Amino acid sequence: MTSEPYIIDDRDRHVFRLNRRVLVDPDILERERRRIFDRAWIYVGHESEIAKPGDFRTRHVAGRPIIFCRDSHGSVRAYLNTCRHRAAMVCRERQGNASRFTCVYHGWNYAIDGRLIRVPGRESYGPAFREADFPLVDVPRLDSYRGFWFLAFGAVASPLAENLAGAREYIDLVVDQSPTGEMEIIAGTQEYDIRANWKLLVENSFDDYHLAATHSTYLEYMRDSGVNVTVPRGLLMPAHGIGKSLGNGHAVVDNINFRGRPVAAWIPLYGEEAKAEIAAIRAELVARLGEARAKRVADTNRNLVVFPNLVINDGSSVTVRTFVPVSVDRMRVTAWALGPKGESESARARRLDSFLTFYGPGGLATPDDVEALEMVQAGLSTCHEVPWSEMSRGMNKEGDQLNTDELHLRTFWRHWNALMTAA
Ligand code: FES
Ligand code: FE
Repeated sequence: MTSEPYIIDDRDRHVFRLNRRVLVDPDILERERRRIFDRAWIYVGHESEIAKPGDFRTRHVAGRPIIFCRDSHGSVRAYLNTCRHRAAMVCRERQGNASRFTCVYHGWNYAIDGRLIRVPGRESYGPAFREADFPLVDVPRLDSYRGFWFLAFGAVASPLAENLAGAREYIDLVVDQSPTGEMEIIAGTQEYDIRANWKLLVENSFDDYHLAATHSTYLEYMRDSGVNVTVPRGLLMPAHGIGKSLGNGHAVVDNINFRGRPVAAWIPLYGEEAKAEIAAIRAELVARLGEARAKRVADTNRNLVVFPNLVINDGSSVTVRTFVPVSVDRMRVTAWALGPKGESESARARRLDSFLTFYGPGGLATPDDVEALEMVQAGLSTCHEVPWSEMSRGMNKEGDQLNTDELHLRTFWRHWNALMTAA
């Protein structure tokens, strides 16, 4: 490793630069796996995905295969998906409901609560062999905040709630839109790969500076559909939006909703027939939360990054998105739509329409973003000749930073750098 720093962070001179090597060097990815993914709280899933005893989902989290499930007592568990015999994954299904898992290789059986309950040819083991010594292994740490479950493998710096710091307030704003306080992941998952380093999607997920250039087609389409998308430029909240650091690497863009939200504001795209229902949703929010809080929930959008790789986009629908490095220049993205439990069929249809047509991999926004990120990755092959990226927007300002500044990006990178360089 060269001694060049990963970042240059000169607050006096308002200079922030990122060493492009951190987006292309496979050794840095290895270091991230050990220093970030092995140590941080990492999102695993939402409680609604495993609503009933026996429900399970298998996924890859922090580079390990995991069974995220609800055991027969109703407790949420996360097992390492590996057989205690000779390591095969014991569950190959993506999701389902089971009372036991049978290893495909030699047929060892595990109960949903992790106990080893059947070993074919049991009599061939000596008296020292005890089933009780070979349960499925739980991940070292598992905890949740308002329905969002996280796991951690190493010694974490702080308990989950404390670690989430200011991100809790923004998760609360998302969950508070549900009349029952319960949100659910809606069936159906978006999965796609992007030929770019995973950290580029962290940046992109809340980089509002790119909106006008990258998404010009979308903005034209909205204008043509009669939606006022004239975003006041260069103004602070409440005229437009701000970028905010939330502690521990988490950050958010907190925006005035200017393109309608089906929980709050009708726009022509939703159709005349949606008007009455959106007004009723708004009235419920006001009755339950009071005018000020309802306004906060309904009239602002937020794109939240929970360090390192969970994004919650709460705009015209709620998208929960996580992404993992496949290699230094490729990531795998998984995204789910989240909505209030028990919402009407028509409200859900509007939500899913937005999830698909705006945030989806074939929607109006995401293909533009994917193209942009792949262009960045292609440009990074020049990193020996052009080694630094510039990320100092807004550093010269006191107080609030615009959503189009880069404070929130710097927040991520500063925390990333601290973890990557700590003694
Ligand atoms: Fe699972 Fe052999 S590896 S039963
Ligand atoms: Fe975008």
